[in-house]
Amino acid sequence: MESPTTYEHSDAMVPDQKNAFVFTGNIRVKLVRRLGFISSSRHCLRKRVRFLLIMSFLILTLLLVIGVRSPNVNSPPDRQSAELSLSRRLPLDVKPTNYKIKLTPYLDEEDLERLFTFDGEVYILVTCRQMTDTVTLHAASLSVDIESIQVTDMNGDVNMGVVATNIVSQFDFFVINLKHSLQVGRQYIMYMKYSGNMTTDNRWLGFIASYSGTRYIASTHLEPTYARSVFPCFDEPSLKATFDITVKHRLGRSALSNMPNIKNHTQGEWNTAYFNTTVVMSTYLVAVVVSDFECKEAVSEGVQFRVWSAKDDLKDTQFALEIGMQFLSYFEDLWYIPYPLPKLDMVIIDIDGSGAMENWGLITFNSPMVLYNKVNDSLSQQVTVAMTVVHELTHMWFGNIVTLDWWDDTWLKEGFADFFQFWGVDHLKPGWHVYEEFYQDRITFQAFLADMDPDSQSIVAPAGKYRPPVEQFATTSYKKGAAMVMMMQTFLGEETFYEGVRNYLMRHLYGSVKRTDLWACLTEADIGKGDTDFRSLMEPWLLYPGYPLVTILRQGSVITVEQEQFLIQPLKKIRLNKDVSDTILCTGLIHSSERDWVAALAVLLKSNNNRLSVNSRKSLACSRLPVVLQRYMEQSTHAGDFADIIGDVRDSSPMGFQIAWNYTLENFDTLSKIDKASTYDLLWKFVNHMNSDKDLDNYKNLRRYITKDMTDDYYKQYAVINGNKDWMKMNYQDVADFLKNKIPSVT
Ligand code: BES
Ligand code: ZN
Repeated sequence: MESPTTYEHSDAMVPDQKNAFVFTGNIRVKLVRRLGFISSSRHCLRKRVRFLLIMSFLILTLLLVIGVRSPNVNSPPDRQSAELSLSRRLPLDVKPTNYKIKLTPYLDEEDLERLFTFDGEVYILVTCRQMTDTVTLHAASLSVDIESIQVTDMNGDVNMGVVATNIVSQFDFFVINLKHSLQVGRQYIMYMKYSGNMTTDNRWLGFIASYSGTRYIASTHLEPTYARSVFPCFDEPSLKATFDITVKHRLGRSALSNMPNIKNHTQGEWNTAYFNTTVVMSTYLVAVVVSDFECKEAVSEGVQFRVWSAKDDLKDTQFALEIGMQFLSYFEDLWYIPYPLPKLDMVIIDIDGSGAMENWGLITFNSPMVLYNKVNDSLSQQVTVAMTVVHELTHMWFGNIVTLDWWDDTWLKEGFADFFQFWGVDHLKPGWHVYEEFYQDRITFQAFLADMDPDSQSIVAPAGKYRPPVEQFATTSYKKGAAMVMMMQTFLGEETFYEGVRNYLMRHLYGSVKRTDLWACLTEADIGKGDTDFRSLMEPWLLYPGYPLVTILRQGSVITVEQEQFLIQPLKKIRLNKDVSDTILCTGLIHSSERDWVAALAVLLKSNNNRLSVNSRKSLACSRLPVVLQRYMEQSTHAGDFADIIGDVRDSSPMGFQIAWNYTLENFDTLSKIDKASTYDLLWKFVNHMNSDKDLDNYKNLRRYITKDMTDDYYKQYAVINGNKDWMKMNYQDVADFLKNKIPSVT
């Protein structure tokens, strides 16, 4: 951990030094720098100070409410076992350039003996980069016909002689030892025949056989490391190559792959479908589907769009098709890079659970998340469809054209896709206001909630620590990753951000990237504007788990700013029976201005999300501005849920209690005309918290509203207040002592 750095200034203004804050007035500033989260750039210092102040209030209050303050347990990255992680990676002796793959899945009773298995053949064209007599590639759960393996020179004239093969199962390595060494700069062809089992248990991995309602179909899901269970390959994202795919299937189904079908050869009951050569891409993006599906089709700017589904679902695919075409054209214009393939198929496969996969040119959705029926479905289903399609299409640029060098930067594609699914849908359907939910749902709710847990993991694995690729697809890569993208965009402003990202995509077209490549382009775009060093700004957010708790203390003329990792104990341990997002929203609104409150109300009125509505409604009642609460209740008088809104104000604070009580009495007649039962119910609910002489007097004022049929209830409630009052008298001292111990005095 860094040792604390202290800056002291006795002047009114602090110059534009790194790690300094700007304050006006005769105040000394003491900044305690703990984890390196704080870095500065001139043009946003003021914004940042305001942000830090709000954050600190917010989080401090949250801590008070929850009563937990955990120690700082952040530790520096673990530097052990760097070698271990290397040994799991393929050696760099040979590099693949092209694969020719032929797959034959067996899906029918006629092939009973082979049912749900497949045959494969692969030719891999490789270039030798370092002289070697051993080639290591990946294969998992495949039976390779050892006799069939051949390694020859480019022309097939010189046989390099296979001496032995080995399997290193913990790394899925398939090792071929050769008689003659491969020579640097020369190209060779490796050939082998093999077979494998299809996945039939509803897991979305490898070569999958699933039932479509009419017959079995075949599809693939290869990310992150399942390509090796469909064809022997160099299964790392940066080892890109082109692919020529061939699929043999029985008549009655059709085959799809990443590229258009260019040739078919039918013989007896079988058809062999040939597909055009792909662009240069990673193994995890290869895809094949063999199905009896039907499609809807449209052509836009030279790209053929099709959505494929089982016949019955086809009528509900129109919206996915439309939104897909619109988004593609928006993204082409935004990045100045056209979608590079001549076609884009989207296939809806019915496998349990939900999920989608951005195979280049052949996106698969294993769920109804992309079906929308105009008559029967809600707007929120339509929003889900748009978000899902836009997420996967975002990957065509972020992930497919520009690919991660390694899985530790998974956030680079999933964070971008998670961000742009909001940003993109907001652009295409501004009336839906989905981006307004981004902060509340993705950041405040999902990212913060996951990241305040002591078990939360950093987005990027600590240096030298191996994290299995599949574990990189955790909430943090998506939600916190999306928050990172939002931070960069708001920090730079839209135009500078786009400029930097355009450069990043353009410079690494069809290549592989590390996050440092993004930092370089963003830093470059900001030259002469904010001159921000993106590496030092962003890296700590990725390398450490959690987020900072910033505490600002003022003692006389000295202000101390401290930061540490914000942690909360797992919710079950502290028995929080309230949704934490309530607490966060509520705390935010307690300290907000009238303008913020009005903005929050606007979000609520537009929202059709139930969870959000209840949370937001309760949170709006947290305001400490009487005028705002008064207006809130007035606005709600004619709404069906007036009792809930007044009840929320009543329960939010002692002040809210008083305002709600006065309001209810003053408007009793109007309210009871709308709903008599709710109005009385509302009144009775004040009673539990009434326990003084004054409360009893207040309650007596109610008498004039009590109708005959309510008289009994009225006296019952009267008795409750009397009882509360007596209890309070008897226990007054104990309660006072209890409160004194529980709530530290604030001086
Ligand atoms: N690339 C992922 C699919 C994936 C997820 C592969 C996990 C390997 C491991 C895809 O873009 C994705 O994020 N899909 C989501 C749905 C999406 C709409 C958020 C999924 O499958 O849950
Ligand atoms: Zn994704």
